[in-house]
Amino acid sequence: MITPRQRLLRALHREEVDRPPVWLMRQAGRYLPGYRAVRAGHGFWEVCRAPELSTAVALEPLRLFPLDAAIVFSDILVILDALGLGVSFVKGEGPSVARPLYGQADLDEWQTDGLTRRLSYVPEAVRHLRAAIGEDRGLLGFAGAPWTLFGYAVDGNSSSELLGARTLLRTDPELARRALGVLADAASQLLAAQIEAGADAVQIFDTWGGLLDRDTYAAFALPALRRLIEPILGLGRPVLLFVRGGHHLLPILGQSGATAFSIDWRTPLSEARALLPGAALQGNLDPTLLFAGEDVVQGATRALLAEMRALGPGFVVNLGHGILPGTPPEAVAALCDTVVHGD
Ligand code: CP3
Repeated sequence: MITPRQRLLRALHREEVDRPPVWLMRQAGRYLPGYRAVRAGHGFWEVCRAPELSTAVALEPLRLFPLDAAIVFSDILVILDALGLGVSFVKGEGPSVARPLYGQADLDEWQTDGLTRRLSYVPEAVRHLRAAIGEDRGLLGFAGAPWTLFGYAVDGNSSSELLGARTLLRTDPELARRALGVLADAASQLLAAQIEAGADAVQIFDTWGGLLDRDTYAAFALPALRRLIEPILGLGRPVLLFVRGGHHLLPILGQSGATAFSIDWRTPLSEARALLPGAALQGNLDPTLLFAGEDVVQGATRALLAEMRALGPGFVVNLGHGILPGTPPEAVAALCDTVVHGD
């Protein structure tokens, strides 16, 4: 019998499997009662830094739903925090950055020395989670894409559609390139450390990649992604790239070096397969679907499975973006059960 971990790895290597594996972006989090209970007693960073707590919240969705893989509980903003930008989460307002990037003087303050050591709690969380799930389940590590991290470094939170970051690309492109390079190296080291600690595959989140037109993405975001991905390909683990709103970028995303792509809910999988013919694909149900009732979820999941079957091997079932707070856990169960039991 094939294990969930083998199912995940074979699908990501585009080999035949009995059914597509399933995991969900942001599968741990505020929609789950156990997570909210842990957060009632502990700060967000405290949960990330204490392996017992991060493993407990990463395990909750695996206990509730028949998922093929766990994802380490962490955040993409750990890198900005470790560089010394001062990241906090204000309830209802998203992240806030105490020392944003405006100019070279700010970049000079970024603390790159000892970065790996300051981030060692992330691979530690991976190691702890691997010991808890055993050898048969898949385990994903992750990091933020340089452009998305740059966006948070400059704008603090994303409500401005990254006006500051998109302006800085044009007013001081050299500064932007230097900052993107630092972020790429940090993310690369963080992913390598998670792979060494037991992650089967890693995902890069470019949540704000879709804000850039294709030429600007090619000029700034893509070289940084290549710098991030190239050093870790040698470790032999699949590298997934998720670009939210990235439909117009599909023709160039192959140049990133990623071996698999997590597709946003707005892009038909058939178009993604045609534009990225060599890659495994993951996705791509609309996260708001989970609010529409279990019958709707079941119907949409069946349609997705049929589409994947028709397109051949190399698919992983997921959402087209992270699970939203307030999502009914019953809908998540309906999605996972439909994948496991087929039609
Ligand atoms: O998937 C998982 O279960 C692992 C955990 C995970 C978190 N963040 C935990 C978290 C993952 C994979 C992330 C990635 C992340 N973080 C992204 C990329 C994915 C995406 O959603 O686009 C981004 C952009 C962030 C940045 C971030 N972190 C924001 C915007 C916020 C606040 C608003 C929000 O979405 O919750 C966070 C905080 C955060 N990260 C929470 C969780 C569970 C909520 C913290 C809380 O308990 O209040």
